[in-house]
Amino acid sequence: MPTATATSATSSSESDGRPSNPPALPGTDFSAAATIDAELSALSPADRLRWAWTRFGTRAVIGTSFQPAGIATLHLAGTHGFALPAFTLDTGLLFPETLELKNLLEQRLGRTIESILPTQTVAEQAAEFGPELWKREPDFCCQLRKVLPLHNRLMSVDCWITGVRRDQSSSRATAPIAEVFTVPNTDRLLWKLNIVADWSRDRVWSYLREHNLPYNILHDRGYRSIGCWPCTRLTAAHEEERAGRWTGFDKTECGIHTSGSGI
Ligand code: ADX
Ligand code: SF4
Repeated sequence: MPTATATSATSSSESDGRPSNPPALPGTDFSAAATIDAELSALSPADRLRWAWTRFGTRAVIGTSFQPAGIATLHLAGTHGFALPAFTLDTGLLFPETLELKNLLEQRLGRTIESILPTQTVAEQAAEFGPELWKREPDFCCQLRKVLPLHNRLMSVDCWITGVRRDQSSSRATAPIAEVFTVPNTDRLLWKLNIVADWSRDRVWSYLREHNLPYNILHDRGYRSIGCWPCTRLTAAHEEERAGRWTGFDKTECGIHTSGSGI
């Protein structure tokens, strides 16, 4: 049975621990976001996932870029029997090593992870907007290849689970555990749970080691934060974890966490 106590969720039938009839949405009150955040902050990441699973069932989704926090999240969900769907935004510019890890994780965890593609291929984008858009207008490139595909996916869910962590960068230092996300240019509201926001980088890596989980081999080559290959570089130990993203631009976020929420 769920141990989370965060809201006035309605009942669900859970003979096998999985809600066959997820509680109705009125059980969540977006105006109570601060209270929910405080209550979920007192829970473990597993119980935060349980909160989402109990209330939303498969309308809660894990978004992962296959970095350690996402791998831990997928593993926690599987271990506890929460059949939460998962997706990745496949920009068409991910490292081959990242795509290999996706396959490996699907086998190891015995689940699928949906790949969400942008409307245009990289070649089609180049034909319309010119080659290597990321070298000229990375915000626009991210908008086309990550932000808009994400918003499209979020239109049909009630809870987005991320691997954002507070110690990733100064801009994420105050990331809440629970917040309300508004899909821009729509009236769509949903919960966004950063379920390991309060886990340190070391804590996440310990979890991966403890459970002998696979990880992106690029980490062994010195990469710390890994996104699209054109916008990811190696970082020095003294730099912030995400310092290797979008070098040369006044840009620290791709936009998926800044368009519609507070981070
Ligand atoms: S970001 O700048 O790429 O957004 P980061 O790589 O630090 O940030 O990832 C933080 C979280 O954003 C991930 O744990 C994941 O929840 C989400 N995220 C980032 N990139 C993707 C992606 N390609 N597909 C799905 N989710 C993503
Ligand atoms: Fe384009 Fe770089 Fe953004 Fe990837 S991270 S979508 S290549 S600008």
